[in-house]
Amino acid sequence: MKKQGTVSRILQYVKPYKGWLATAMVCMVIAASMAGAQAYMVKPLLDEVFFKQDRTMLLLVPLLILGIFLVKGLFSYVYNYLLAKVGQSVILDLRNTLYSHIQSLPLSFFHKKPTGELISRIISDIALIQGAVSSVIVGILKDTCQILFLIGVIFYQDWRMASVAMLSMPLVVYPIVNFGRRHRKLSRGSQQTTAEVSNILYETITGNRIVKAFCMEKHEVDRFAEKLDKLFVIVMRNTRITAISRPLMEFLGGVGIALVVLYGGSQVLAGESTPGTFFSFITALIMIYEPMKKVSSVNNTLQQGIAAAERVFEILDVQPDVAEKTDATVLPPVRNAIEFNDVRFRYDAQTEVLKGINLKVEVGEVLALVGSSGGGKSTLANLIPRFFDVSSGSITIDGTDIRDVTFASLRSQIGIVTQQTILFNDTVRNNIAYGSADASWEQIREAARAAHALGFIEALPQGFETVIGESGARLSGGERQRLSIARAILKNAPILILDEATSSLDTESEREVQQAIENLVQSRTTFVIAHRLSTIRKADRIIVIQDGAIVEEGTHESLLARGGVYKMLYDMQFKDDAMELQGEGQPAA
Ligand SMILES: Nc1ncnc2c1ncn2[C@@H]1O[C@H](COP(=O)(O)OP(=O)(O)O)[C@@H](O)[C@H]1O
Ligand SMILES: [Mg+2]
Repeated sequence: MKKQGTVSRILQYVKPYKGWLATAMVCMVIAASMAGAQAYMVKPLLDEVFFKQDRTMLLLVPLLILGIFLVKGLFSYVYNYLLAKVGQSVILDLRNTLYSHIQSLPLSFFHKKPTGELISRIISDIALIQGAVSSVIVGILKDTCQILFLIGVIFYQDWRMASVAMLSMPLVVYPIVNFGRRHRKLSRGSQQTTAEVSNILYETITGNRIVKAFCMEKHEVDRFAEKLDKLFVIVMRNTRITAISRPLMEFLGGVGIALVVLYGGSQVLAGESTPGTFFSFITALIMIYEPMKKVSSVNNTLQQGIAAAERVFEILDVQPDVAEKTDATVLPPVRNAIEFNDVRFRYDAQTEVLKGINLKVEVGEVLALVGSSGGGKSTLANLIPRFFDVSSGSITIDGTDIRDVTFASLRSQIGIVTQQTILFNDTVRNNIAYGSADASWEQIREAARAAHALGFIEALPQGFETVIGESGARLSGGERQRLSIARAILKNAPILILDEATSSLDTESEREVQQAIENLVQSRTTFVIAHRLSTIRKADRIIVIQDGAIVEEGTHESLLARGGVYKMLYDMQFKDDAMELQGEGQPAA
């Protein structure tokens, strides 16, 4: 399938504004024709005023000149304003479209595309498109109009001389096209490198703690410098092309003018042409080179914009592989059970991560998933809110396949607390109320209390109104975790997923969080993934997942009695814990 041309795709975004654009173009043609009139006025000025010494013309010509400038100025104002409006509107639409498309893409997309690169596309690539859109419309159309009017003037004044001047045209057009092509190529490279730079920035600024901890400052600085060097080389190569294209064109223009002076001057001397015609001609010719040069630099901007647009469209063309059906229904509140029917899942073609999971979880049940790391527990849990779709088999809620219902009705029923807490740089209150916009002040407080978070929140300098820093940087791990739990409590969803919610915590804050979790799981269907087996003892049922399959199932006691994988995991941890206790007892070495 051949892709739709990039330019025509950009024009799709211009379409809604064609009314303004048409008005602008009419104004532009009028303004451009005034440039032709300016050049033309040289003839009556010389021939009538100076040679024929016509006094009425002496008054008339200045008045006409004033009129020409007035009309030109007025219409320039209108079209410049309108064109900017069209250009900015297109950019506004494009940025909104891109952002909402990115938001609609499944989680897997964000695993593949670096964050900094996405940011760079939304900000810097779209800015380049903006340059192209406004300069194409403003520049190419206006300057081409002007060139045409001025060419009209020179042919009107003396077609033979005009033909001589036109001979140098191909000489000028060739470099424009050629440079443009090279420019686009380089521009693609420079935008890609900019994206890489922006990605390094993003990673190392958000992950600065790790950079410091591993003494990688120098390494990161070098990596950054290396990318900047690459960018520098590309930009300089580009500059060389731009810088050479101007003088080259001017020189070629000069060749044309020199030819005309030679030929036209001899015509005037021979009495076959008037000085007025000659100077009007030369004026028009000199005036042509200005818009001509602009067309060439506009071409560079245009090529840059096209390269940027290709990168933006590439993202717009990503089809979400987890999408809502057009006839998706609303899932009613869960009443009976969540079922996994022979669920298989693979992230990529090679390895199957889940190998035929069959599982029925009754409403109100607390199901614990245990097993060694990499077994597929998180993957299994991520299938329930459809962060990913099953590769085969199905997941049903009360018998309805979750792929048949709307995202909103499914996800609003699921509360998630993971090991990695996601908090925003906002107030404590807004972080708790994220996704529950209509929660009352009392409900927010109540959620914080149930999450064992009220104490530390009230000790913060501005209490609930304290801004917690990016990703909650100003809070401890346990505090962040309790805020996430408060958020889940407030959401009050009937299904709950706890993925290692307490794993990263020390024993003391774990105890606090554990109590918060006990408040949370009451009367909810809960999937709890826990590393420390002590935290799941009270679960109604425990399943052991090994290598993508359920290998054991039962209660804590029955599994211990069975003496299988669970018992082994338990013994291992028990030994670790005992060693830890011993270690605490010994004096520091
Ligand atoms: N986004 C991903 N893309 C590709 N493979 C993944 C992704 N996430 C996890 N995996 C792989 O899937 C397997 C199961 O991972 P996971 O479900 O996180 O295990 P667990 O939570 O039991 O530790 C692992 O082998 C892991 O490497
Ligand atoms: Mg996991």
